[in-house]
Amino acid sequence: MVHLNVAGGEALNYVSGQRIQRKTDMRLVDGRQQVMVEALAYLSLYHQEQGNFAGFVPQMARVHDEIMQTGTYWQGEDELAYGARVAWRNNSRCIGRLQWKSLAIHDMRHLQTAEEIYEALVEHIRWATNGGKIRSAISIFAPQVPGEPGIRIWNPQLIRYAGYKNSDGSITGDALLCELTESMRHLGWKGGAGTPFDILPIVIQMPHQAPMLFELPRDIIVEVPLSHPEYSWFADLGLKWHALPVISNMRLEIGGVSYTAAPFNGWYMGTEIGARNLGDVERYNLLPLVASKMGLNIRSDRELWKDRALVELNVAVMSSFARHGVTIIDHHTASRQFMHHQRNEAEAGRPLPADWGWIVPPLSGSATPVFHTSYEDRLLTPNFFAQEDPWRTTTI
Ligand code: ARG
Repeated sequence: MVHLNVAGGEALNYVSGQRIQRKTDMRLVDGRQQVMVEALAYLSLYHQEQGNFAGFVPQMARVHDEIMQTGTYWQGEDELAYGARVAWRNNSRCIGRLQWKSLAIHDMRHLQTAEEIYEALVEHIRWATNGGKIRSAISIFAPQVPGEPGIRIWNPQLIRYAGYKNSDGSITGDALLCELTESMRHLGWKGGAGTPFDILPIVIQMPHQAPMLFELPRDIIVEVPLSHPEYSWFADLGLKWHALPVISNMRLEIGGVSYTAAPFNGWYMGTEIGARNLGDVERYNLLPLVASKMGLNIRSDRELWKDRALVELNVAVMSSFARHGVTIIDHHTASRQFMHHQRNEAEAGRPLPADWGWIVPPLSGSATPVFHTSYEDRLLTPNFFAQEDPWRTTTI
């Protein structure tokens, strides 16, 4: 038994040693073998981390036959669930990975129509929002058939605000979403009320079909109006943000199988909203307005008006979410949790792939422990990958 485990361990190292080279080595072999190699690597990781060494060989034999016959394979529920959690663990840009084991899996692979998928997305939002006590979840729709297009959700997140280009060149709403907003109009969306916070409809595209538009029911979307504990004028700015970030445009890859529609959510870290979404020049660009309201001289960079406005914007986000009972984490706590995750992973004998530039918060970086740590990034699978924006490639 001991001998078997040791031999198994060596085989695993050999497999993972090879995987790093796979991009160059595997170009010449056919897709089937690539799926086989990925399946082998993932199933050995899965069984090893579950401590179920005996399960690996018979299962790999089954998967081997299925890949030879069909070019792919159907993953078991547990393999799928564990793979989604490991994809989170392996994603080097996420600071929230301490929570990786708590991801809830909604296995929706059986759904066949855009309407059914839309219903599942509504249910995802409702379940994950949970009246403000946010729960991390992923809904996984049918995998991509090799060589065919996969199911796509056009929206980068399920809940996003439209960006409208005005005739004078100014933008109402989220400037980042202008292009998608425009392509939705081409698909027949009439547009919203024209506020800076109009919720975009959802676009779902099934393989070889035209994309379809769906409006989200208003009552499932929790939004937090922003006020400031000391500045009474802040509430009059009429700012708000949605409670739930659900990334919906990434491809989940597990063991050589691609899930091109697999929206997932955690809860917000305050700076994502207070520093980036509302502060970035290319987004809501609110620092000049907030600083002016604070009575700062926005003509003099040396007075640090941007910095001071950033802090107060972030104070407003944190305190407003707290007041409305919506889960949110501050960047100091998140950084400390990440250091904890780092220790956990070291104890488990695993590498911690991390992208320093993404892990360090966009506000007060050097006041957090992650700033003072160096990280090695590397690409491990399972993982979440960026995909091409579908409106650039769709021919319908
Ligand atoms: N940064 C993105 C946003 O502001 C969300 C990315 C995912 N964030 C998260 N906390 N899970 O909408």
